[in-house]
Amino acid sequence: MSWINPHGGRLINRLVPKSKAQAIEERAPGLPRITLNPREMADIEMIAVGAMSPLEGFMVAEDYDGVVERMHLAKGLAWTIPITLSVTSEQGGKISEGDEVALHDPDGTLLAVMEVQSKYKPDKMREAEKVLRTTHDAHPGVQYLKSIGDFYLGGPLTAVRLPEHRAFNEFRLTPRETRVLFKAKGWETVAAFQTRNPIHRAHEYLQKCALEIVDGLLIHPLMGATKADDIPGPVRWDCYDALLNNYYPKKDRVAISVFPAAMRYAGPSEAIWHAIVRKNYGCTHLIVGRDHAGVGKYYGTYDAQHIFKEFSREEIGLTPLYFEHAFYCRKCGNMASIKTCPHGNEEHVFLSGTKVREMLSRGEAPPAEFTRPEVARVLLRHAKQNQPAG
Ligand code: ADX
Repeated sequence: MSWINPHGGRLINRLVPKSKAQAIEERAPGLPRITLNPREMADIEMIAVGAMSPLEGFMVAEDYDGVVERMHLAKGLAWTIPITLSVTSEQGGKISEGDEVALHDPDGTLLAVMEVQSKYKPDKMREAEKVLRTTHDAHPGVQYLKSIGDFYLGGPLTAVRLPEHRAFNEFRLTPRETRVLFKAKGWETVAAFQTRNPIHRAHEYLQKCALEIVDGLLIHPLMGATKADDIPGPVRWDCYDALLNNYYPKKDRVAISVFPAAMRYAGPSEAIWHAIVRKNYGCTHLIVGRDHAGVGKYYGTYDAQHIFKEFSREEIGLTPLYFEHAFYCRKCGNMASIKTCPHGNEEHVFLSGTKVREMLSRGEAPPAEFTRPEVARVLLRHAKQNQPAG
Protein backbone atom coordinates (compact mmCIF):
# COMPACT_ATOMS: atom_id res chain seq x y z
CA MET A 1 0.00 0.00 0.00
CA SER A 2 1.42 3.41 -0.89
CA TRP A 3 1.08 6.50 1.25
CA ILE A 4 0.90 9.93 -0.28
CA ASN A 5 4.10 11.84 0.44
CA PRO A 6 3.96 14.89 2.69
CA HIS A 7 4.61 18.24 1.00
CA GLY A 8 8.37 18.44 0.50
CA GLY A 9 8.78 14.70 1.15
CA ARG A 10 9.14 14.60 4.96
CA LEU A 11 6.66 15.01 7.80
CA ILE A 12 8.05 17.69 10.11
CA ASN A 13 7.94 17.30 13.89
CA ARG A 14 8.81 20.36 15.97
CA LEU A 15 7.39 19.14 19.27
CA VAL A 16 10.19 18.10 21.62
CA PRO A 17 9.81 15.17 24.04
CA LYS A 18 9.27 16.07 27.73
CA SER A 19 12.90 15.20 28.52
CA LYS A 20 14.10 18.02 26.25
CA ALA A 21 11.32 20.47 27.13
CA GLN A 22 12.65 21.13 30.61
CA ALA A 23 15.85 22.86 29.47
CA ILE A 24 13.77 25.11 27.19
CA GLU A 25 11.33 25.92 30.00
CA GLU A 26 14.27 26.98 32.15
CA ARG A 27 15.76 29.22 29.48
CA ALA A 28 12.51 30.82 28.32
CA PRO A 29 11.97 33.37 31.14
CA GLY A 30 15.16 35.17 30.03
CA LEU A 31 13.94 35.57 26.43
CA PRO A 32 11.81 38.32 24.85
CA ARG A 33 8.23 37.20 25.34
CA ILE A 34 5.57 37.25 22.61
CA THR A 35 1.90 36.55 23.31
CA LEU A 36 0.21 34.80 20.41
CA ASN A 37 -3.21 35.55 18.95
CA PRO A 38 -5.64 32.69 18.13
CA ARG A 39 -4.49 32.39 14.51
CA GLU A 40 -0.83 32.23 15.50
CA MET A 41 -1.62 29.59 18.14
CA ALA A 42 -3.38 27.46 15.55
CA ASP A 43 -0.39 27.91 13.22
CA ILE A 44 2.08 26.82 15.92
CA GLU A 45 0.03 23.71 16.59
CA MET A 46 0.00 22.82 12.89
CA ILE A 47 3.72 23.53 12.45
CA ALA A 48 4.61 21.48 15.55
CA VAL A 49 2.74 18.35 14.41
CA GLY A 50 3.81 18.53 10.77
CA ALA A 51 0.50 19.66 9.27
CA MET A 52 2.41 22.56 7.70
CA SER A 53 5.29 20.44 6.38
CA PRO A 54 7.80 21.52 5.09
CA LEU A 55 7.51 24.62 7.33
CA GLU A 56 9.55 24.37 10.52
CA GLY A 57 8.46 27.75 11.86
CA PHE A 58 6.87 31.05 10.89
CA MET A 59 7.94 32.29 7.47
CA VAL A 60 11.17 34.20 6.89
CA ALA A 61 11.07 37.18 4.50
CA GLU A 62 12.20 35.17 1.44
CA ASP A 63 9.45 32.57 1.83
CA TYR A 64 6.87 35.22 2.61
CA ASP A 65 7.74 37.20 -0.54
CA GLY A 66 7.71 34.06 -2.65
CA VAL A 67 4.28 33.08 -1.36
CA VAL A 68 2.78 36.54 -1.78
CA GLU A 69 4.28 37.23 -5.22
CA ARG A 70 4.53 33.78 -6.81
CA MET A 71 2.49 31.33 -4.68
CA HIS A 72 5.69 29.37 -4.01
CA LEU A 73 8.18 29.11 -1.14
CA ALA A 74 11.70 30.44 -1.80
CA LYS A 75 12.99 26.94 -2.66
CA GLY A 76 10.20 26.43 -5.18
CA LEU A 77 7.49 24.40 -3.43
CA ALA A 78 3.90 25.48 -4.00
CA TRP A 79 2.39 27.41 -1.05
CA THR A 80 -0.30 30.07 -1.13
CA ILE A 81 -0.99 31.30 2.40
CA PRO A 82 1.54 33.36 4.40
CA ILE A 83 2.18 31.77 7.80
CA THR A 84 3.39 34.71 9.83
CA LEU A 85 4.11 35.85 13.37
CA SER A 86 3.43 39.53 13.98
CA VAL A 87 4.84 41.91 16.58
CA THR A 88 4.30 45.62 17.14
CA SER A 89 7.00 48.13 16.13
CA GLU A 90 7.77 48.58 19.82
CA GLN A 91 8.30 44.83 20.38
CA GLY A 92 10.11 44.51 17.07
CA GLY A 93 12.52 47.29 18.03
CA LYS A 94 13.76 45.20 20.94
CA ILE A 95 14.32 42.01 18.91
CA SER A 96 17.18 41.41 16.46
CA GLU A 97 17.82 38.69 13.94
CA GLY A 98 19.75 35.92 15.70
CA ASP A 99 17.77 36.34 18.95
CA GLU A 100 15.63 33.63 20.42
CA VAL A 101 12.08 34.54 21.49
CA ALA A 102 9.56 32.78 23.73
CA LEU A 103 6.04 32.26 22.37
CA HIS A 104 3.26 32.19 24.95
CA ASP A 105 -0.47 31.65 24.87
CA PRO A 106 -2.69 34.45 26.27
CA ASP A 107 -2.75 32.73 29.70
CA GLY A 108 1.02 32.98 29.89
CA THR A 109 1.81 29.31 29.18
CA LEU A 110 4.98 28.78 27.17
CA LEU A 111 4.28 26.99 23.89
CA ALA A 112 7.51 27.33 21.95
CA VAL A 113 10.76 29.14 21.42
CA MET A 114 11.75 30.47 18.01
CA GLU A 115 15.12 31.39 16.53
CA VAL A 116 14.56 34.72 14.79
CA GLN A 117 16.26 34.33 11.43
CA SER A 118 14.31 37.12 9.83
CA LYS A 119 12.63 40.32 11.01
CA TYR A 120 10.80 42.26 8.33
CA LYS A 121 8.15 44.88 7.74
CA PRO A 122 5.52 43.44 5.39
CA ASP A 123 3.57 45.50 2.90
CA LYS A 124 0.23 44.35 4.29
CA MET A 125 -1.86 45.81 1.50
CA ARG A 126 0.27 43.98 -1.08
CA GLU A 127 -0.33 40.81 0.93
CA ALA A 128 -4.08 41.50 0.96
CA GLU A 129 -4.18 42.33 -2.76
CA LYS A 130 -2.23 39.23 -3.82
CA VAL A 131 -3.41 36.61 -1.34
CA LEU A 132 -6.95 37.75 -0.52
CA ARG A 133 -7.46 39.44 -3.90
CA THR A 134 -8.97 42.48 -2.17
CA THR A 135 -7.98 45.29 0.17
CA HIS A 136 -11.60 45.99 1.11
CA ASP A 137 -12.07 46.71 4.83
CA ALA A 138 -15.10 44.45 5.14
CA HIS A 139 -13.06 41.33 4.25
CA PRO A 140 -12.24 39.47 7.50
CA GLY A 141 -8.70 38.76 6.27
CA VAL A 142 -8.07 42.46 5.62
CA GLN A 143 -9.45 43.25 9.08
CA TYR A 144 -7.03 40.72 10.55
CA LEU A 145 -4.05 42.28 8.76
CA LYS A 146 -5.04 45.73 10.01
CA SER A 147 -5.40 44.44 13.58
CA ILE A 148 -1.91 42.95 13.97
CA GLY A 149 1.55 44.47 14.53
CA ASP A 150 3.65 45.95 11.73
CA PHE A 151 6.61 43.55 11.86
CA TYR A 152 6.84 39.85 11.14
CA LEU A 153 9.34 37.47 12.72
CA GLY A 154 10.33 34.23 11.04
CA GLY A 155 12.50 31.22 11.80
CA PRO A 156 12.40 27.61 12.99
CA LEU A 157 10.52 26.99 16.21
CA THR A 158 10.70 24.32 18.87
CA ALA A 159 7.44 23.59 20.66
CA VAL A 160 7.37 22.35 24.25
CA ARG A 161 3.63 21.71 24.26
CA LEU A 162 0.59 22.16 22.03
CA PRO A 163 -2.06 24.79 22.80
CA GLU A 164 -4.56 23.52 25.34
CA HIS A 165 -8.10 22.87 24.12
CA ARG A 166 -11.18 22.44 26.24
CA ALA A 167 -13.11 20.21 23.87
CA PHE A 168 -12.79 17.41 21.34
CA ASN A 169 -9.34 16.35 22.49
CA GLU A 170 -9.98 12.76 21.45
CA PHE A 171 -10.69 14.00 17.92
CA ARG A 172 -7.52 16.03 17.45
CA LEU A 173 -5.55 13.64 15.28
CA THR A 174 -2.12 14.76 14.08
CA PRO A 175 -0.97 13.97 10.52
CA ARG A 176 0.95 10.99 11.88
CA GLU A 177 -2.19 9.73 13.60
CA THR A 178 -4.49 10.17 10.60
CA ARG A 179 -1.95 8.34 8.46
CA VAL A 180 -1.88 5.44 10.94
CA LEU A 181 -5.69 5.44 11.03
CA PHE A 182 -6.01 5.31 7.23
CA LYS A 183 -3.53 2.46 7.10
CA ALA A 184 -5.36 0.55 9.84
CA LYS A 185 -8.60 0.94 7.93
CA GLY A 186 -6.95 -0.15 4.71
CA TRP A 187 -7.85 3.06 2.89
CA GLU A 188 -5.51 3.75 -0.02
CA THR A 189 -7.51 6.73 -1.22
CA VAL A 190 -9.06 9.23 1.20
CA ALA A 191 -11.07 12.32 0.35
CA ALA A 192 -10.85 15.19 2.83
CA PHE A 193 -13.85 17.41 3.40
CA GLN A 194 -12.98 20.91 4.58
CA THR A 195 -15.84 22.71 6.30
CA ARG A 196 -16.56 25.62 8.58
CA ASN A 197 -20.35 25.20 8.51
CA PRO A 198 -22.93 22.69 9.72
CA ILE A 199 -23.25 19.89 7.17
CA HIS A 200 -26.31 20.48 5.02
CA ARG A 201 -27.71 18.16 2.35
CA ALA A 202 -25.48 19.69 -0.34
CA HIS A 203 -22.35 18.94 1.70
CA GLU A 204 -23.62 15.42 2.37
CA TYR A 205 -24.21 14.92 -1.35
CA LEU A 206 -20.65 15.95 -2.21
CA GLN A 207 -19.23 13.67 0.46
CA LYS A 208 -21.29 10.71 -0.66
CA CYS A 209 -20.43 11.22 -4.32
CA ALA A 210 -16.77 11.19 -3.25
CA LEU A 211 -17.37 8.05 -1.19
CA GLU A 212 -18.56 6.29 -4.34
CA ILE A 213 -15.05 6.81 -5.75
CA VAL A 214 -12.56 6.70 -2.87
CA ASP A 215 -11.94 4.22 -0.04
CA GLY A 216 -12.58 6.59 2.85
CA LEU A 217 -13.79 10.05 3.78
CA LEU A 218 -12.14 12.30 6.35
CA ILE A 219 -14.58 14.93 7.57
CA HIS A 220 -12.10 17.56 8.70
CA PRO A 221 -13.98 20.51 10.17
CA LEU A 222 -11.94 23.63 10.70
CA MET A 223 -12.09 24.40 14.42
CA GLY A 224 -9.59 27.28 14.73
CA ALA A 225 -10.62 30.95 14.73
CA THR A 226 -13.57 31.84 12.49
CA LYS A 227 -15.52 35.08 12.08
CA ALA A 228 -18.03 35.93 14.78
CA ASP A 229 -21.17 35.14 12.78
CA ASP A 230 -20.07 31.64 11.73
CA ILE A 231 -21.77 28.86 13.74
CA PRO A 232 -19.52 28.02 16.75
CA GLY A 233 -17.44 24.84 16.56
CA PRO A 234 -19.19 22.91 19.37
CA VAL A 235 -22.62 23.44 17.76
CA ARG A 236 -21.28 22.32 14.40
CA TRP A 237 -19.79 19.27 16.04
CA ASP A 238 -23.22 18.26 17.36
CA CYS A 239 -24.52 18.60 13.78
CA TYR A 240 -21.72 16.35 12.45
CA ASP A 241 -22.51 13.80 15.14
CA ALA A 242 -26.22 13.86 14.33
CA LEU A 243 -25.48 13.31 10.68
CA LEU A 244 -22.85 10.61 11.15
CA ASN A 245 -25.01 8.68 13.61
CA ASN A 246 -28.00 8.65 11.30
CA TYR A 247 -26.84 8.73 7.69
CA TYR A 248 -23.26 7.47 7.33
CA PRO A 249 -21.61 4.04 7.18
CA LYS A 250 -19.56 5.35 10.08
CA LYS A 251 -16.96 2.75 11.00
CA ASP A 252 -15.85 1.44 7.66
CA ARG A 253 -15.88 4.43 5.39
CA VAL A 254 -15.82 7.68 7.39
CA ALA A 255 -13.56 9.33 9.97
CA ILE A 256 -13.92 12.72 11.63
CA SER A 257 -11.10 14.74 13.09
CA VAL A 258 -10.47 18.36 14.06
CA PHE A 259 -8.63 20.56 11.56
CA PRO A 260 -7.01 23.02 13.99
CA ALA A 261 -6.44 25.80 11.43
CA ALA A 262 -7.79 29.33 11.60
CA MET A 263 -10.00 30.38 8.69
CA ARG A 264 -8.50 32.96 6.30
CA TYR A 265 -11.53 33.41 3.99
CA ALA A 266 -9.00 33.64 1.14
CA GLY A 267 -11.07 31.60 -1.34
CA PRO A 268 -8.79 30.30 -4.12
CA SER A 269 -5.49 30.84 -2.25
CA GLU A 270 -6.90 28.99 0.73
CA ALA A 271 -8.17 26.11 -1.41
CA ILE A 272 -4.62 25.34 -2.61
CA TRP A 273 -3.35 25.58 0.94
CA HIS A 274 -6.17 23.32 2.18
CA ALA A 275 -5.09 20.76 -0.42
CA ILE A 276 -1.41 20.87 0.53
CA VAL A 277 -2.13 20.63 4.24
CA ARG A 278 -4.65 17.78 3.80
CA LYS A 279 -1.99 15.93 1.81
CA ASN A 280 0.19 16.19 4.92
CA TYR A 281 -2.60 14.49 6.86
CA GLY A 282 -2.39 11.63 4.35
CA CYS A 283 -5.45 12.47 2.25
CA THR A 284 -5.23 11.77 -1.47
CA HIS A 285 -8.24 13.89 -2.53
CA LEU A 286 -9.91 17.13 -1.43
CA ILE A 287 -13.51 18.07 -2.13
CA VAL A 288 -13.68 21.57 -3.65
CA GLY A 289 -17.20 22.77 -4.27
CA ARG A 290 -18.74 26.16 -4.88
CA ASP A 291 -17.02 29.22 -3.42
CA HIS A 292 -14.66 27.08 -1.33
CA ALA A 293 -13.31 29.11 1.64
CA GLY A 294 -15.04 32.17 0.27
CA VAL A 295 -16.82 35.01 2.01
CA GLY A 296 -19.27 37.63 0.73
CA LYS A 297 -18.92 38.22 -3.00
CA TYR A 298 -15.15 38.49 -3.17
CA TYR A 299 -14.57 35.37 -5.29
CA GLY A 300 -16.16 33.88 -8.36
CA THR A 301 -18.19 30.72 -7.63
CA TYR A 302 -15.53 28.41 -9.10
CA ASP A 303 -12.33 30.49 -8.65
CA ALA A 304 -11.16 28.06 -5.97
CA GLN A 305 -11.30 25.28 -8.62
CA HIS A 306 -9.77 27.31 -11.48
CA ILE A 307 -6.66 28.19 -9.43
CA PHE A 308 -5.56 24.53 -9.46
CA LYS A 309 -4.79 24.99 -13.20
CA GLU A 310 -1.98 27.37 -12.23
CA PHE A 311 -0.08 24.44 -10.66
CA SER A 312 1.10 21.14 -12.06
CA ARG A 313 -0.56 17.99 -10.70
CA GLU A 314 2.80 16.85 -9.30
CA GLU A 315 3.43 19.97 -7.26
CA ILE A 316 0.10 19.76 -5.45
CA GLY A 317 0.24 15.95 -5.26
CA LEU A 318 -3.32 15.54 -3.99
CA THR A 319 -6.24 15.31 -6.45
CA PRO A 320 -8.98 17.94 -6.13
CA LEU A 321 -12.54 16.68 -6.63
CA TYR A 322 -14.55 19.52 -8.15
CA PHE A 323 -18.28 19.88 -7.59
CA GLU A 324 -20.84 22.19 -9.15
CA HIS A 325 -23.33 24.00 -6.95
CA ALA A 326 -25.52 21.19 -5.55
CA PHE A 327 -29.21 21.49 -4.66
CA TYR A 328 -32.29 19.38 -4.06
CA CYS A 329 -34.52 19.09 -7.14
CA ARG A 330 -38.19 18.42 -6.36
CA LYS A 331 -38.84 17.02 -9.80
CA CYS A 332 -35.84 14.66 -9.74
CA GLY A 333 -36.64 13.87 -6.11
CA ASN A 334 -32.98 13.93 -5.17
CA MET A 335 -29.85 16.02 -4.81
CA ALA A 336 -28.39 17.16 -8.10
CA SER A 337 -26.50 19.90 -9.93
CA ILE A 338 -26.80 21.44 -13.37
CA LYS A 339 -24.56 18.61 -14.56
CA THR A 340 -27.26 16.04 -13.75
CA CYS A 341 -30.62 17.82 -13.60
CA PRO A 342 -32.61 19.19 -16.58
CA HIS A 343 -35.22 21.11 -14.54
CA GLY A 344 -35.60 24.83 -13.96
CA ASN A 345 -34.75 26.86 -10.87
CA GLU A 346 -38.37 26.76 -9.73
CA GLU A 347 -37.89 23.06 -8.93
CA HIS A 348 -34.67 23.60 -6.99
CA VAL A 349 -34.43 24.21 -3.24
CA PHE A 350 -31.83 26.98 -2.76
CA LEU A 351 -31.44 28.65 0.61
CA SER A 352 -28.87 31.33 1.37
CA GLY A 353 -27.07 31.39 4.72
CA THR A 354 -28.98 34.57 5.61
CA LYS A 355 -32.31 32.92 4.81
CA VAL A 356 -31.43 29.92 6.98
CA ARG A 357 -30.41 32.19 9.86
CA GLU A 358 -33.72 34.08 9.57
CA MET A 359 -35.72 30.85 9.62
CA LEU A 360 -33.85 29.52 12.63
CA SER A 361 -34.28 32.78 14.56
CA ARG A 362 -38.06 32.51 13.99
CA GLY A 363 -37.91 28.99 15.42
CA GLU A 364 -38.57 27.43 11.98
CA ALA A 365 -36.62 24.37 10.85
CA PRO A 366 -35.12 24.59 7.34
CA PRO A 367 -36.85 22.12 4.99
CA ALA A 368 -35.71 18.49 5.02
CA GLU A 369 -34.60 18.93 1.39
CA PHE A 370 -32.03 21.40 2.66
CA THR A 371 -31.05 20.12 6.12
CA ARG A 372 -31.58 16.73 7.72
CA PRO A 373 -34.14 17.04 10.56
CA GLU A 374 -31.59 15.78 13.13
CA VAL A 375 -29.22 18.60 12.12
CA ALA A 376 -32.04 21.15 12.03
CA ARG A 377 -32.90 20.25 15.64
CA VAL A 378 -29.35 21.04 16.78
CA LEU A 379 -29.40 24.35 14.92
CA LEU A 380 -32.81 25.30 16.32
CA ARG A 381 -31.64 24.57 19.86
CA HIS A 382 -28.60 26.79 19.32
CA ALA A 383 -30.69 29.59 17.79
CA LYS A 384 -33.08 29.46 20.76
CA GLN A 385 -30.26 29.69 23.29
CA ASN A 386 -28.87 32.70 21.47
CA GLN A 387 -32.12 34.60 21.13
CA PRO A 388 -31.86 38.11 22.63
CA ALA A 389 -33.71 38.28 25.96
CA GLY A 390 -37.09 40.08 26.14
S1 ADX B 1 -15.78 26.50 3.55
O1 ADX B 1 -15.43 27.89 3.84
O2 ADX B 1 -15.22 25.56 4.50
O3 ADX B 1 -15.47 26.17 2.14
P1 ADX B 1 -18.40 25.28 3.79
O4 ADX B 1 -18.24 24.56 5.07
O5 ADX B 1 -19.78 25.85 3.54
O6 ADX B 1 -17.38 26.50 3.69
O7 ADX B 1 -18.09 24.37 2.53
C1 ADX B 1 -17.45 23.15 2.61
C2 ADX B 1 -17.20 22.59 1.22
O8 ADX B 1 -18.47 22.35 0.56
C3 ADX B 1 -16.45 23.52 0.27
O9 ADX B 1 -15.66 22.74 -0.60
C4 ADX B 1 -17.55 24.21 -0.51
O10 ADX B 1 -17.09 24.63 -1.76
C5 ADX B 1 -18.58 23.09 -0.65
N1 ADX B 1 -19.99 23.53 -0.78
C6 ADX B 1 -20.75 24.14 0.17
N2 ADX B 1 -22.03 24.29 -0.27
C7 ADX B 1 -22.08 23.77 -1.52
C8 ADX B 1 -23.12 23.61 -2.52
N3 ADX B 1 -24.38 23.98 -2.31
N4 ADX B 1 -22.79 23.03 -3.69
C9 ADX B 1 -21.50 22.61 -3.94
N5 ADX B 1 -20.51 22.74 -3.06
C10 ADX B 1 -20.77 23.30 -1.84
